[in-house]
Amino acid sequence: MTIGVKQPSIVLGVSGGIACYKAVELVRLLVKAGCSVQVIMTRSAMEFVTPLTFQTLSGHPVASETFNLTQESEIGHINLADSADLFVIAPATANIIGKIANGIADDLLTTVLMATQAPLLIAPAMNIHMYENPILQENLRKLRRVGYHLLEPAEGFLACGYEGKGRLPDPEKIAEEVQRLLKPKDLIGERFLITAGPNREPLDPVRYLSNRSSGKMGYALARAALRRGAAVALVTGPTALAAPAGARTTQVTTAAEMRAAVLKEFSTSTAVIMAAAVSDYRPVMRADKKIKHGKYPIELRLEPNPDILKELGAAKDGRLLIGFAAETEALTANAAKKLTEKNLDMIVANDVTQEGSGFDGDSNIATILDRTGATCALPLMSKDDLADRIFDHFLELKKPR
Ligand code: CTP
Repeated sequence: MTIGVKQPSIVLGVSGGIACYKAVELVRLLVKAGCSVQVIMTRSAMEFVTPLTFQTLSGHPVASETFNLTQESEIGHINLADSADLFVIAPATANIIGKIANGIADDLLTTVLMATQAPLLIAPAMNIHMYENPILQENLRKLRRVGYHLLEPAEGFLACGYEGKGRLPDPEKIAEEVQRLLKPKDLIGERFLITAGPNREPLDPVRYLSNRSSGKMGYALARAALRRGAAVALVTGPTALAAPAGARTTQVTTAAEMRAAVLKEFSTSTAVIMAAAVSDYRPVMRADKKIKHGKYPIELRLEPNPDILKELGAAKDGRLLIGFAAETEALTANAAKKLTEKNLDMIVANDVTQEGSGFDGDSNIATILDRTGATCALPLMSKDDLADRIFDHFLELKKPR
């Protein structure tokens, strides 16, 4: 693990499952990698492994009780919340996942979690049927939505006797993910202009043409860029998402408004990522009054909107331009064509017909293509994780050769 000047501080929450024994190995790996690890155990975790084991390996007293005066004076739960560079929960039981998803803070671990502003990595481990339970799955979706990082459980033989998905991933894999999330602020100095969400092209005062974009990918990019030290100007179509803290956000509706806002931000940006699903067409006429119900078919005439990204491609002047390609066929060929035609440096292609990929979900399956001809097909991952991969690729591309 590459460690910066300051020793990274990890708070590891251990909840009660048989996989607690793997959390012991995780502490050893993290300490070996140069992290300071502070462990919080739930009561049920202490049924599986003693605090002494974690205390010995981490070199710090283990916290477990909210109202224990000795622990509070030695460790302090708000201090724990504030000191973490990263919070990890491994193993995370169905119970703790349910509590976090519903804002319950009834023990030390959940209370500290509620107070921390550190990024959170959750590694679920449980019986296969518990993992498949729709309530648990809904809770996981909720946690992804608020930007928590989730590790997929591994498949294999489970302690309950079943075979399937539910095992805590190997400690090495969790430690690797910790390393990735602890990445340094490697985007300091960059000023990203990021677009997100759909456009709405009005037909009359109550109707519009739009698409299924949720804005989640663009917002995930904005959050990741901010986390890694960049300045962000976000130009967004209508979404249900909260504006990322720290971004300068401009709300727009139509493609024409998006173009105007983008051109305004373009000159001060160092790079642009067009994740918005820009409307290709708009109605030629917008009725002033609501179009009334009638007996006969009506015709809708549409005219093309300007291609914003192509316009930026012609005026990029040293800026790095990243586009998205939403495709339903010939994924890489179509994306490569857009990369060249729009004069881009990178394009993130996704087949929106594939399960787990595309518009409205929290995950994506993407292939990154760049101007050097490199193609990188990525597996299914959360949009937050994909955002980080896109910035990793961006930095690779910027390296002097
Ligand atoms: N884009 C844009 N302006 C448009 C249309 C698209 O800036 N009027 C941008 C999108 O934000 C995306 C990229 O161009 O980054 C590709 O968008 P996509 O919808 O996949 O392709 P189009 O160029 O619209 O081509 P087609 O719809 O024919 O696939």
